[in-house]
Amino acid sequence: MKVLVIGGGGREHAIAWKVSMSPKVDKVYCAPGNAGISECAECVDIPVNDHKALADFALSKGIDLTIVGPDDPLAEGVVDVFEENGLRIFGPRKNAAIIESSKVFSKNLMKKYNIPTAAFETFDSAGDAIAYLKSCKFPIVLKADGLAYGKGVLICSNYDEAVKGVKSIMEEKKFGAAGNRLVIEEYITGPEVSVLAFCDGTHIIPMTSAQDHKRIYDDDKGPNTGGMGTLSPSPFYTAQIDDYCKKHIYQPVIDAMKAEGREFVGILFVGLMLTQDGPRVLEFNARFGDPEAQVVLPRLKNDLVEVCEACIDGRLNEIKLSFEDNAAVCVILASEGYPEKFEKGYEIQGLESLAGKKDYIVFHAATKRENGRILTNGGRVLGVTAIGSDLKNARRKAYEGAEKIYFKNKYMRKDIGKVIEYL
Ligand code: AMP
Ligand code: GLY
Repeated sequence: MKVLVIGGGGREHAIAWKVSMSPKVDKVYCAPGNAGISECAECVDIPVNDHKALADFALSKGIDLTIVGPDDPLAEGVVDVFEENGLRIFGPRKNAAIIESSKVFSKNLMKKYNIPTAAFETFDSAGDAIAYLKSCKFPIVLKADGLAYGKGVLICSNYDEAVKGVKSIMEEKKFGAAGNRLVIEEYITGPEVSVLAFCDGTHIIPMTSAQDHKRIYDDDKGPNTGGMGTLSPSPFYTAQIDDYCKKHIYQPVIDAMKAEGREFVGILFVGLMLTQDGPRVLEFNARFGDPEAQVVLPRLKNDLVEVCEACIDGRLNEIKLSFEDNAAVCVILASEGYPEKFEKGYEIQGLESLAGKKDYIVFHAATKRENGRILTNGGRVLGVTAIGSDLKNARRKAYEGAEKIYFKNKYMRKDIGKVIEYL
């Protein structure tokens, strides 16, 4: 089989790496890929939003299966374009990807089908939103409706801050058209868990759990990022919570999407908060998480290609997923200054010290090769994933590995997975 992976970050490196291990696969392509991905796939220079060029490439190479990494091509309908060309592709169509690309849609869906989530109201105008704020308890959470690179959520501790937030999203259009509509949501607390689930439109099978660390600084301080490190499994996600979520969240949302004529095929990413009153959905994403994929896929025992094909064919019920009885921790090495301004183009050293080591995989998030050297090429640069017998062991190894890699302006959080030290 020939497989194409769309994307060029750490998540896509994890997908391409896992696909390349499938005995069914002869050749992996990745568009556009990066320096690390080029070690397990042939990278082709096509941007993720050029759906026609991607489909033409897949047709010309006789690609048997395409897997989509990022959210925007899904939201813009890359799956529909591939299907119109008779190509097999793993991911939700545009009408189902809306579960991520519109928070107003997903919150209303949860309300209609009684899926547990924080209480909320939606707004089309800044005036109405500000009038509503007068009756709110603080802190309160503002969410721009559309995709905003993980930055469209503001937690406001008082009325004045919230009014400023509403104006910046809905009037100054800080996140562009994503801010045409707004969700104002009750502030809830508890450990956060990410659960990625395979879906075939009718059936849903969750993978092992993961936990992201979204803020840029230690102790969850500073602005949100795409994710600074992950661990799997989450120590908070018990079998009892899993049972509850299967019954009250996972199957109900797949049934709801089907009932709405929006069958969801692909990866449903369920962002949960485990509150004292039980699990609540913070958000749904229509794709693998990044860097959740970097800790979940290395623990997956199944052939990823086989599971994706079962989803496309609507026979996920024939699959039994299994995961290694171990743990994984991924520490992101970023460029100092991310998620705001940062420099790139610096040489990365030390990669060879982890290459080929059984318990390490260094996933590349933003790198490029130039004259035989590997250079930093973005905010999140690398994800050092270590596998260990348990979370403590994986965490220690991940930091030992992360210390072996050097580039100018390297920045990492020092407390990824620290919570497990107190359990
Ligand atoms: P989201 O993109 O909706 O997952 O939100 C990004 C982050 O904001 C989440 O990972 C949480 O840390 C935080 N957050 C979102 N919604 C809430 C909420 N209702 N209460 C408290 N924190 C929230
Ligand atoms: N790590 C969070 C996300 O992929 O959205």
